[in-house]
Amino acid sequence: MYNISIGTILAASLLFVICTWIGSVKASRLLYSRTIERMHRKTRKLLFWAWFPIIPAAAILGAIAWMQQTMLTTFWIDHVFIQAPLILLPLLTIWFVAVPKLLKLRSITKQALGDTQQAAPVDSTAHLRAAAPGLIIPFQMAALAALTSFYFALVPPVPFKWLDISIPLAVFVLATAGLWWRHQFRCREVSKMEAYTAPAFWKRGLAMVCVLAVLGASGYYLFNYAMDKSELPPEIDMASGTYDYGGVMPADMSQHNHQSGMAAMTSNSGKMISVADLAGPREGIPDRHFTLTAQKKTVTLSSGKTVDAWTYNGQIPGPELRMKEGELIEVTLINQDIEQGVTAHWHGLDVPNAEDGVAGATQNAVMPGETYTYRFRAEQVGTFWYHSHQDSREAVSMGLFGALIVEPKTEPFQPVKDITVMTHRWKGASIAVGASDQLERMAIAPGTPVRMRLINTDDWVNQNYTLVGTHFEVAAIDGTELNKPDVLTNTHVVVPTGGRYDITFIMPERPVYLNVGGNRSGGILMSSDGSGDVPEIPPTVAFDPLTYGNPAATAFDASSRFDREFTLILDNKLGIFNRNFDFLYTLNGEVFPNAPMFMVKEGDLVKTTFINRGNVDHPMHLHGHHVLVLSRNGKPSTGSPWWSDTLNVMPGETYEVAFVANNPGLWMDHCHNLVHAAAGMSMHLMYEGVKTPYAVGSGTQNHPE
Ligand code: C2O
Ligand code: CU
Repeated sequence: MYNISIGTILAASLLFVICTWIGSVKASRLLYSRTIERMHRKTRKLLFWAWFPIIPAAAILGAIAWMQQTMLTTFWIDHVFIQAPLILLPLLTIWFVAVPKLLKLRSITKQALGDTQQAAPVDSTAHLRAAAPGLIIPFQMAALAALTSFYFALVPPVPFKWLDISIPLAVFVLATAGLWWRHQFRCREVSKMEAYTAPAFWKRGLAMVCVLAVLGASGYYLFNYAMDKSELPPEIDMASGTYDYGGVMPADMSQHNHQSGMAAMTSNSGKMISVADLAGPREGIPDRHFTLTAQKKTVTLSSGKTVDAWTYNGQIPGPELRMKEGELIEVTLINQDIEQGVTAHWHGLDVPNAEDGVAGATQNAVMPGETYTYRFRAEQVGTFWYHSHQDSREAVSMGLFGALIVEPKTEPFQPVKDITVMTHRWKGASIAVGASDQLERMAIAPGTPVRMRLINTDDWVNQNYTLVGTHFEVAAIDGTELNKPDVLTNTHVVVPTGGRYDITFIMPERPVYLNVGGNRSGGILMSSDGSGDVPEIPPTVAFDPLTYGNPAATAFDASSRFDREFTLILDNKLGIFNRNFDFLYTLNGEVFPNAPMFMVKEGDLVKTTFINRGNVDHPMHLHGHHVLVLSRNGKPSTGSPWWSDTLNVMPGETYEVAFVANNPGLWMDHCHNLVHAAAGMSMHLMYEGVKTPYAVGSGTQNHPE
């Protein structure tokens, strides 16, 4: 519904521009009618264009009213206070100022028509009336206002910034004033003439060409200027930029201007700690050691299709890293031949900052021939994954990822039938589970407890997983077990990109089928001997974590006192990111590196509100922390505590989440639709007093997204 209303506003705004524009052209040309009969006919047409725009206007205002009635202020504030007046006021001026004048003119032309021949020239009173600014300006003002309103639909002025609003409004007011002045002038000229003669066609044409040339040239200049300005500097230190302190004035900021946050960061440089020093245990013999060799390889899917992949250890996905809770893990990453460079990021595992594997933030990208060692303790039990965080959009789509599973220390190594379902759409193939793009069959003895770990590694797609043939439970989300999950049937699970859901069931006598993304020629068919037919998929409803399972005590909840509160508005705007003119996916109205970073101090209890005003989903992923979902669209989370690291925020949705700032460092916070992240939908969480020796940008080897 939200999508429909913003779509309506956008489409109707464009229609409104077109029809008010036609009206404005017709109004200013009424004067040029050569005969009384023509002028009479034109007044009728103009009357039509005075009323017709009411159709798109009603659509826009209706959509705005619906939003105002049903949604939070942030969704409609600009529409109600900027767009609605820009649409309504000029229309009222047309109806109450221009239309009476038009009707008067029409009665004069009608009378003249009765008296004279049809081909008689228009008499001078009619001309004077047709030249009246009061008749023309309302139409032209409506057209300019429509254009301004359309601009605000494309470049929403939220969050509110004075310049973003006042410049377009000032242009609108000045242009209207300029036209007013021009029509005053023209009207005076007409009144001086004895018999009105329209300016020669070529003169009008020339004037039009001149106006267009000036507009075109200045537009071209402005566009090029904006293009140049959008170019990212060759080197960006992520610790620099603008700050959002979440409503808290930092202690050492009091003597500085609030705007120049950089001063605050350097003023206590005595206490600054480098990201590089926030490392995992450097000493000690690791309990488990893995080697990941990044290399290009042509790999074959189960169907026989081949994929030119970027791999860890020559396989897609990379090897599954299994470990036990509490173990000291050492991973040696070797880059054999990926020219773009690689890293390994442990998605969802809250490791010390220097082990987080983000090029340009926590390390330099590992270039061909280079090696890098990660060491961390596996403290959380659950389903995670790892992927390169250098050029991540391309790296993940090409295959540089794998599963990472932490087993509880108390249980035997494989107590249940444990199935990792890492789904990915390889180039030129349908959705695959790992490297198998066809139906996979598994023999599982009835009575066996089964855990399927669903991991969505795609871009853009919220993957649907439907389990047919048994009831099941959602045991965990994003690596955290749910408390006393309820039993589900005819339910599909929607996993956002980067997210993980564990589902569990006891293998029944009959076959069980896991369908992925509706593709019935793929997925996993489980039965006692692996045989059987793929069953029909019954109608299902989507799983909703908000009310699922049973409440349990948490260290904090919605009623806690929060040290910092942040708001993150996700939206689209037409703009330029690094010389690309496109619809951008914005964070608080900005793209990287201009979106202010969220500043926290160690120990803070932090609340963040996500508001998606845009028209696509954004699975938001904060590194190094898990957030507890407090509410969605104002409805509190009432089921099991729902901890997430990759939280999908759909258009029109609002989520309140909270987390404890207990892992100092510089942490990426981005959309896990990696195309969005690469297009600038990326920011970070920053602990006060932390600096980084690394930098990103074209002048460095580091391109995290
Ligand atoms: Cu899975 Cu910053 O990413
Ligand atoms: Cu996104």
